[in-house]
Amino acid sequence: MKVEIYRTVIFVLLPQIRAVDIEVSTADNRKYVKLSTHCIVAAGRSFYTFQVKAKNDAHIALMSEDDDARPLYEIVIGGWGNKKSCIRTGKQLPCLSTYQQTVLSQTAYRLFWVSWIGGYIVVGEGDVVNKNVFMSYHHSNPYHVNFFAVMTGWSSSGQWKFSNDVRCTLQAFNNTRIVENYTDCVGTTTYECDSGYFLHSGNLQRTCFSNRTWSGEPPYCKQISCPQISSTVSYAIQHQDTDIGGNVTAVCSDNFRHSSGHLTRECTSNGSWDGEEPVCLRCRCPCSLIGQQGFNSSSELEQRLKQLKRELEIAKNSTSSFYRKRNCALDNRLSSASLGYLCGYGVIISIAVYLVIPDLSILYRHFRFGAD
Ligand SMILES: *[C@@H]1O[C@H](CO)[C@@H](O)[C@H](O)[C@H]1NC(C)=O
Ligand SMILES: *[C@@H]1O[C@H](CO)[C@@H](O)[C@H](O)[C@H]1NC(C)=O
Ligand SMILES: *[C@@H]1O[C@H](CO)[C@@H](O)[C@H](O)[C@H]1NC(C)=O
Repeated sequence: MKVEIYRTVIFVLLPQIRAVDIEVSTADNRKYVKLSTHCIVAAGRSFYTFQVKAKNDAHIALMSEDDDARPLYEIVIGGWGNKKSCIRTGKQLPCLSTYQQTVLSQTAYRLFWVSWIGGYIVVGEGDVVNKNVFMSYHHSNPYHVNFFAVMTGWSSSGQWKFSNDVRCTLQAFNNTRIVENYTDCVGTTTYECDSGYFLHSGNLQRTCFSNRTWSGEPPYCKQISCPQISSTVSYAIQHQDTDIGGNVTAVCSDNFRHSSGHLTRECTSNGSWDGEEPVCLRCRCPCSLIGQQGFNSSSELEQRLKQLKRELEIAKNSTSSFYRKRNCALDNRLSSASLGYLCGYGVIISIAVYLVIPDLSILYRHFRFGAD
């Protein structure tokens, strides 16, 4: 319920706040308050309406420059104790047009308008220009009217209301989005870079000021991209697309082989390359002997090494000799072992033959003819 009420209040108040007049207070000090600080300028206008609540002496200056020491028309409303109004061509100069009636109120806002066209300075009551004129003066050598200032004094302070009609033209920029637009006086328009773009220069928040210009600089949103990568001694960049989603491809230079990092990397959405910078190391022996495997990472390389190790390990239980032993199969082949046996037994046997054979005839005679 509460949320609902707040929402209604905000909804109702917001347009009113934005449409509300610009209020300015002046003290009893005879000091001009520049309306340019409240976004109000005369340049580009030929008349202006305003409301004022004061006991007496509401002064409005139509200035050529934003400085009350420079040429200006001074319009006194309700001066001399709210008895007389007057138009002057400078501060405290003689009155050139007067009106001797009570025009101000201490308790209620009174509406007035001022116009300055073709050297005619005209002042009237109400909010309809050229109606209820009460003072008019033609200046043969008119000042340019570019700025306003107001003041009160002579034991009177003042409350002023000016219509908030200062608007800047809403501007759109490439690759930006308007988040919120307030184009009226001191209104701020907020921009956002489109996705995939970042603010390269300028401002994403701009405020509308009195001369109907925006504060700051136009936002320049630039496409997010990855930093350019250059070739090095150890690798060369073959292809490079620095846009988001693009790839960079490196190849190791001659006599260098890929050791770690990534030869192919992708540009991520935050404008940085994924993976790691490739490391290509100089080969100690000709690279062709090592072979260019083109591994993408050190873990891939490790995996491949493990695999190779497994493949190269001699499985003892699969050698031919293992099978021979296990199956007790006859091996007719001339092996070193059988040669050894042959030679060893052969020598022993032949020695025995040579020693024993000459004695055999004697042994034979002993058996046949008895002892000698
Ligand atoms: C400006 O703001 C108004 C009110 O919020 C909205 O309706 C309008 O579409 C906005 N204009 C742009 C160009 O964003
Ligand atoms: C390296 O990465 C690319 C792209 O992901 C892939 O096509 C290639 O097969 C990889 N190389 C190896 C050796 O795994
Ligand atoms: C050899 O031995 C290994 C482990 O002892 C065993 O896993 C494998 O199956 C054996 N191979 C043969 C051919 O017997």
